[in-house]
Amino acid sequence: MPIMCKLPFNWQTTDEAVERGKSLHKVGCELLLLHKHSAEKINASISKKDWDSVKVIRESVSLPIIVDVGLSSKWEVDECIEYTGVQGVTASESLEGNPSLFCKKQPPVLDVVRQYLELCKVHPTSISNIKHHINGFCGFYLSRFHDLSTSLKEVQSLEGIEQLMEELGENISKLSGKELKSLTSLRRKKEWRKRGRDRKKEEGTKVVKERDENHIPKIVLKKLQKERVGNAMKSDAQRVAIDFTVIDCMLNKEISKLAGQLMRLYGCNMKSTSPVHLYLTGLETGGVVYRECERQSFDFTKILASVSEKSYLTLFDADDVVYLTPDSPNVLDQLNKDKVYIIGGLVDHQVRKDKTKSLAEEKGLCTARLPIDKYMELKDISPKKKKSGKHAFSIVLSVNQVFEILLKFHETQDWRQALGTCVPQRKGLVLKT
Ligand SMILES: C[S@@+](CC[C@H](N)C(=O)[O-])C[C@H]1O[C@@H](n2cnc3c(N)ncnc32)[C@H](O)[C@@H]1O
Repeated sequence: MPIMCKLPFNWQTTDEAVERGKSLHKVGCELLLLHKHSAEKINASISKKDWDSVKVIRESVSLPIIVDVGLSSKWEVDECIEYTGVQGVTASESLEGNPSLFCKKQPPVLDVVRQYLELCKVHPTSISNIKHHINGFCGFYLSRFHDLSTSLKEVQSLEGIEQLMEELGENISKLSGKELKSLTSLRRKKEWRKRGRDRKKEEGTKVVKERDENHIPKIVLKKLQKERVGNAMKSDAQRVAIDFTVIDCMLNKEISKLAGQLMRLYGCNMKSTSPVHLYLTGLETGGVVYRECERQSFDFTKILASVSEKSYLTLFDADDVVYLTPDSPNVLDQLNKDKVYIIGGLVDHQVRKDKTKSLAEEKGLCTARLPIDKYMELKDISPKKKKSGKHAFSIVLSVNQVFEILLKFHETQDWRQALGTCVPQRKGLVLKT
């Protein structure tokens, strides 16, 4: 069982933390969670001054590191990860006020409120708790409508709160564009932007200048992306399909992860300079995956991908199909435009070995695995094992990671680059020299 250790640190005690981290590594710890420890507070939020300390710890201790920070925006998370090189961050209190903190595009606040209230029906909690959260989500809207804000203080049932939120929605819909704009740029957003501006100031004007020179207006960029993907769908571009016929024994939380992965891989294809023709096959309209994707704001009516309830075997000639599976004896060398590469739409936490391999072989299909073992090796492999060659490993990646590797290879024709950028560091693999 992997062991994670929580390690207190602050910028004044970096060396001590490095020593402790190394000792923990020696005794078998596999993941470190750094949390700032100040004289006054055990879990203080970390400031930029501490980032250097985190960076030093990360570079000195060969363990994946997660850092516990007081986040206020996705922007801050990305910046912290990029600066310190840590493998992840944790968030707690800030998610209370904004559960979509990690989303690139923030969903409408009232959608978040509705989803939250639905969850309260499934997992009952106290009315005061609900009010506390509602205030966190949309306090800045409520502050514009004082009578609603007062009614919320008095209401004593979930139904009452739901009704007030509907009224809030109606009131908001009656606001003029200008009023709405000024309202939505209230407190929190202002704070976020201010933080952003301060950071940029701190780092000087260089970054800003670089950005200006390469700047393409967002609207033009989106149009360009849509054109590229639209062309890939019309022309004889490389085809990659996700097979949703294998979802049968998945748990609800796995379905939810799969939907998240699907959205991520779709986004990557949209942003790629060399997109593929993406097929979502065997995807039942109104089925569990479909509904979960919709719940996570994926709009099937607008997407640029071929979506079908039919299985890939009905859509494509079996001879053109290559089923990607981590357990295949064949190594994928090239992408062939005449072939369709199928990725199993599967999240299996308790890895069901050979699942897609057996299914594909039963149907007499070609299979292949990514050339991970050809180009990469385990970071901490002993020289003895390395010499004997007895360190074969099978690496099971998630649907979006496999898709991103294919996409990167499609773009660069370079497996080293594709694997080097897309295989997550936590897999403990490095490119062979
Ligand atoms: C989370 S994996 C599921 C693994 C599952 N045990 C199986 O038998 O396929 C999801 C899908 O990603 C693809 N995949 C994952 N790792 C791969 C690898 N190393 N090589 C080729 N395909 C891979 C496969 O299509 C797989 O079905």
